Amino acid sequence: MKAALFDSHGDPSALYIGERPMPDLPDAHILIRVRAVALNGFDPMMLEGSTGLKTPFPMVPCGDFAGTIEALGNAVKGNWSKGQAVTGYPILPEKGMMGEVTPGAACEYVAIPESCVVAVPDGVSHEEAAAMPVAYGTAYRMMALRAGLKPGERVLILGATGGVGVAAMQLAKNADCEVIACGTGAEKAAKLKELGADDVIDTGEEDFLSAIRSRYGKPAYYGGGNGGVDVLVNYIGGETWVPGIKCVRKHGRILVCGATAGYDPKTDLRYIWSFEHSVIGSNGWSAQDQGDILKLAAQDKLRPVLHAVRPIEDIAAAYQELIDRKVVGKSVLTL
Ligand SMILES: NC(=O)c1ccc[n+]([C@@H]2O[C@H](COP(=O)([O-])OP(=O)(O)OC[C@H]3O[C@@H](n4cnc5c(N)ncnc54)[C@H](OP(=O)(O)O)[C@@H]3O)[C@@H](O)[C@H]2O)c1
Repeated sequence: MKAALFDSHGDPSALYIGERPMPDLPDAHILIRVRAVALNGFDPMMLEGSTGLKTPFPMVPCGDFAGTIEALGNAVKGNWSKGQAVTGYPILPEKGMMGEVTPGAACEYVAIPESCVVAVPDGVSHEEAAAMPVAYGTAYRMMALRAGLKPGERVLILGATGGVGVAAMQLAKNADCEVIACGTGAEKAAKLKELGADDVIDTGEEDFLSAIRSRYGKPAYYGGGNGGVDVLVNYIGGETWVPGIKCVRKHGRILVCGATAGYDPKTDLRYIWSFEHSVIGSNGWSAQDQGDILKLAAQDKLRPVLHAVRPIEDIAAAYQELIDRKVVGKSVLTL
């Protein structure tokens, strides 16, 4: 079968289209004909080898995928049918995350345990379904289940152009919050506005702390007033951590699901205690969450934002675009 592959760490030129053997179909597994995969921030990191995780070479990238059921293993119990549209919950029992520590889905067929197969409702395309699991699943857990968002709250999202960021923005708008989205570059900033952000900070032009202070005022030390933001979404970390907490008002929340620019930033504890901030971690999502977000897509309440849909042969270009920070939403590749 056809597969996207890399045999060693490197830049996108290490990616190629080659052949892999058809997967076995163990008893309680389902064989899926993959029709679309989507890229995430971690895919270029896995290619580079910068995560510290051990890569099983030859590596097939991508944890996000959607397709149709090709065959059922002998011990499959559910009411599945051949040709049914499905996605995979990519965190496989005992094996770990597809595209990270076990081969991913950028190939024509994958066989995964029945417990990891998630039905795609009518009205959601393969491309949309492939775009949802990692980014929308992560954002759903963080924004809908962990954040405790209340209507009218002001939410600041750093790096809002990413897959998780766009999804977080859509979910905050669904919760009737006021959203301030940060993105680098005029074109991406305009796109964030088009996607529903109430206000946008172009972080290529303006540092976000100064922008928040000049547009909304400083958070009041004794509480009250309208300065700063109620909620900060910060999965960037690194040098954004201290300016980030300075944007958050008394009793505000800081949501963290990653650290794109550094996981061990300097902090300023005075703000955490003086403003009684809560730092809320959020990790992953469940297969049930994945089913729930696909239903929201079918109901038109959470349509994934697709940056581009291209054939799998264009995978290196799609990686390069992500590395160059030229993407808003999700890059999808078809097979
Ligand atoms: N815990 C979990 O379960 C989980 C699951 C999925 C993802 N994550 C984490 O969530 C984060 C977001 O993932 P993602 O796939 O949406 O996208 P991503 O590629 O990590 O980037 C999101 C955005 O961050 C900005 N950015 C990228 N590199 C940056 C840098 N060095 N410094 C400052 N800003 C930078 C970019 O926006 P601009 O160019 O517009 O500034 C980009 O669009 C990552 O840290 C990822 O590891 C965690």
